[in-house]
Amino acid sequence: MEEIAKALVAPGKGIWAADASPKTIMKRFQEVGIQTGENTNKRFRETLFATDGLENYISGVILNDEIIREERLRNLLTNKGILIGIKVDKGTVDLENFPGEKITEGLDGLRERLAEYKGIGAKFTKWRAVITIGENIPTHVCIGLNVEALARFAALSQEAGLVPVVEPEVLMDGKHTIDEGEKVTFKVLSNVFTELAEHKVNLSQMLLKPNFVHHGKDCLKRASDEKIAQRTLKVLKETVSPQVPGIVFLSGGDSAIEATKHVDRMNEIGGVPWPIAFSFERALEGPAMIVWGGKDENIEAARQVLLDRAKKNSLARSGSYSESMEG
Ligand code: 13P
Repeated sequence: MEEIAKALVAPGKGIWAADASPKTIMKRFQEVGIQTGENTNKRFRETLFATDGLENYISGVILNDEIIREERLRNLLTNKGILIGIKVDKGTVDLENFPGEKITEGLDGLRERLAEYKGIGAKFTKWRAVITIGENIPTHVCIGLNVEALARFAALSQEAGLVPVVEPEVLMDGKHTIDEGEKVTFKVLSNVFTELAEHKVNLSQMLLKPNFVHHGKDCLKRASDEKIAQRTLKVLKETVSPQVPGIVFLSGGDSAIEATKHVDRMNEIGGVPWPIAFSFERALEGPAMIVWGGKDENIEAARQVLLDRAKKNSLARSGSYSESMEG
């Protein structure tokens, strides 16, 4: 498992989160004007998984339950040497008695599902918890329940021989300042690592998928890219064990260029014990989705756009990206 974890954050590489739930991906297609049908997501995945050269920049792809069952789609990736991951949580629901807060479901029957995914070739898993910042939230109850679920997920994954990608996402939604974003991210990550230790999770056999420390989308005071990179590194240094083989960021609603810039700047600053990599969904496949538009005549163009973003994020792994590379 340690080797898989290290391979996922090998120099110049990162993870592509192609695991949006059927409901979320339909929403994303509709937002960019793509006519959706039963097979739209399978067509989208087939189009992009067949991109030549993807393996130069992408170490692993996280799939959802629908897509991992498609042998043809899995083979497009594994034939290139790309590792298969699987999102194993079942999404979030409202947390009873705690308005505005969410809990992630999916622990029931997880041991059996993990064995099944392992049997069809999965090497790693992902579980996403979401924490919302708002008036009097997050509460300690919400944080406590979510980090406990993350720790159980991680322990069960390791039991099955699968590398867990532990994703506690402090959402960018809201009006909070970067200071509040920092405070909450610190609290959540501290709790995550306490809980992982209590559940005897092996920290050298997992990856952490955190948010950038960020201002809220609706905050009038926007933090600079420099501040986002500095604050994010600060919180990671204060909370994350050096045993963890790598950090793979989610993009969280930042544009593709912003997300690449954050990873690039953090790698330029350096001074941390872990590889700083990416595990983007929107910031990686979003631009390619727009170019594809659901039309076969755009397949090649969409592949080129995906490859271009993957390459730029690969450059960001060594702090060698520059915004001037954008056309
Ligand atoms: P974004 O990069 O779009 O935030 O998605 C990452 C992810 O995997 C969310 O679970």
